[in-house]
Amino acid sequence: MNDTPEPGHQRVLIVDYGSQVTQLIARRVREDGVYCEVHPCQKVDGLFLETFDPSAIILSGGPESVTHDGSARAPDSAFTRGVPVLGICYGEQTMAAQLGGSVKAGSPEYGRAEIQIVRESPLFDGFGGVGHSEPVWMSHGDCVSAIPQGFEPIAVSEGAPYAAIADEGRRLYGVQFHPEVAHTPRGSLLLRNFTRKIANLTGDWTMAKFREEAVARIRAQVGRGKVICGLSGGVDSSVAAVLIHEAIGPQLTCVFVDTGLLRAGEGDQVVSLFRGQYNVPLIHVDASDRFLGALKGVSDPETKRKTIGRLFIEVFDAEAAKIDGADFLAQGTLYPDVIESVSVHGGPSAVIKSHHNVGGLPERMRLKLVEPLRELFKDEVRALGRELGLPPAFVGRHPFPGPGLAIRIPGEVTPERVRVLQKADAIWLEEIHKAGLYDSIWQAFAVLLPVKTVGVMGDARTYEDVCALRAVTSVDGMTADMSRIPWEVLERTATRIVNEVAGVNRITYDITSKPPGTIEWE
Ligand code: XMP
Repeated sequence: MNDTPEPGHQRVLIVDYGSQVTQLIARRVREDGVYCEVHPCQKVDGLFLETFDPSAIILSGGPESVTHDGSARAPDSAFTRGVPVLGICYGEQTMAAQLGGSVKAGSPEYGRAEIQIVRESPLFDGFGGVGHSEPVWMSHGDCVSAIPQGFEPIAVSEGAPYAAIADEGRRLYGVQFHPEVAHTPRGSLLLRNFTRKIANLTGDWTMAKFREEAVARIRAQVGRGKVICGLSGGVDSSVAAVLIHEAIGPQLTCVFVDTGLLRAGEGDQVVSLFRGQYNVPLIHVDASDRFLGALKGVSDPETKRKTIGRLFIEVFDAEAAKIDGADFLAQGTLYPDVIESVSVHGGPSAVIKSHHNVGGLPERMRLKLVEPLRELFKDEVRALGRELGLPPAFVGRHPFPGPGLAIRIPGEVTPERVRVLQKADAIWLEEIHKAGLYDSIWQAFAVLLPVKTVGVMGDARTYEDVCALRAVTSVDGMTADMSRIPWEVLERTATRIVNEVAGVNRITYDITSKPPGTIEWE
């Protein structure tokens, strides 16, 4: 779908040269209301540019050196189409090299740096004018050593004489630093200057407009067909379901497989939201006995994940088969899953955990896919959910893994242990809500350990399980830090869990970052 974008939209093309932070460019641009798409450099040739017809182009950073033979280049027509181009880091270097300047290898600069503005330019509008010093974040091994004809330096830094360059006439710009990262505090302003002031884009990307277009697209794709949507209780599948329901009403049937591994009360919430508030046809399958039965005696984390994944597909498949003449399967696939990552050095990355999602349903179902969220980032899905009237508390919910509480119970998962964990987890979340911390935390949950310790309650000795509390801050789940929860909140939670949850007599707080830890324990 994103190879043939909607005509008529103002859109920025981001060419990905393999930087770790390319997605952030897209997020910054979209946050500002300008639609953009990321495409790998290998795919972007002259013909692609012709078809895509971008209103502006951003060339990302990347790990390669422009000075190496065979390193990636932008199509020459990128610079002659008459649309503005912003090259970031590698993007600046390849632009300089392609247009007649030169790049010097081995002049690295990493981390915080100060640039000084040396010439007025719309790129630095609102920054403070000539002579102004601005903190930015650098991460480059090479740097531009001579600029092409027509260009002028507009900012310098100690390590980069061409920290920012411009050919104002042709609207070609290059920056050696990374405006897309949070360490460049006013990077968003720079990107906004590029899209709004230089490319004159109006920022026509709003959730209300997306909703309207998505509804029309779903109707066109589905026609009179029937769609099945697997609900997991999470934000993505719920937003997809509500959107599709708005488009095609009763042609949609949702299937909610309750694995018995959800948080306390979650199954009921999903059912009442979809049946009650939205009146969506919903098949609620209570498969907890099957899941817990299949997990009996299983304690290896990967075996647990695979068992749950396999069973989920079996149960879903069986229910889907009962829906007469279903043609489409809806999935809550998001943009980060769609962006084809550029692997400059090749080779698959190590499998840390095999993920299980509603999205992993089998190809053999032979259903066509409806993926209305393919163009959206997670925060945009939340915004769309709000736009569609989903309750704010539901839209703002922390992510929850497909295998559910099973991967928060190291060792064997039993119905009794699931119940104990649900109670402890509910208390932890309640205290976090009460302290007003929920929205600033990426994820908070309890883990029930297969370890017994000695305690004392009243005058009696106890010998019961340990419960670990986890709370992390994160931007995207790829890296995470422990949340600095106030002692009082931890203390109150610990007291409540030990008093209120039979079977637990000790609480610990997990202070491990990711890496080296992961967010979940299994
Ligand atoms: P880890 O534990 O790998 O988790 O640091 C990163 C993020 O992914 C979530 N997670 C999953 N989500 N299916 C999912 O949909 C899964 O199998 C799965 N395993 C982990 C985790 O909760 C965290 O947000």
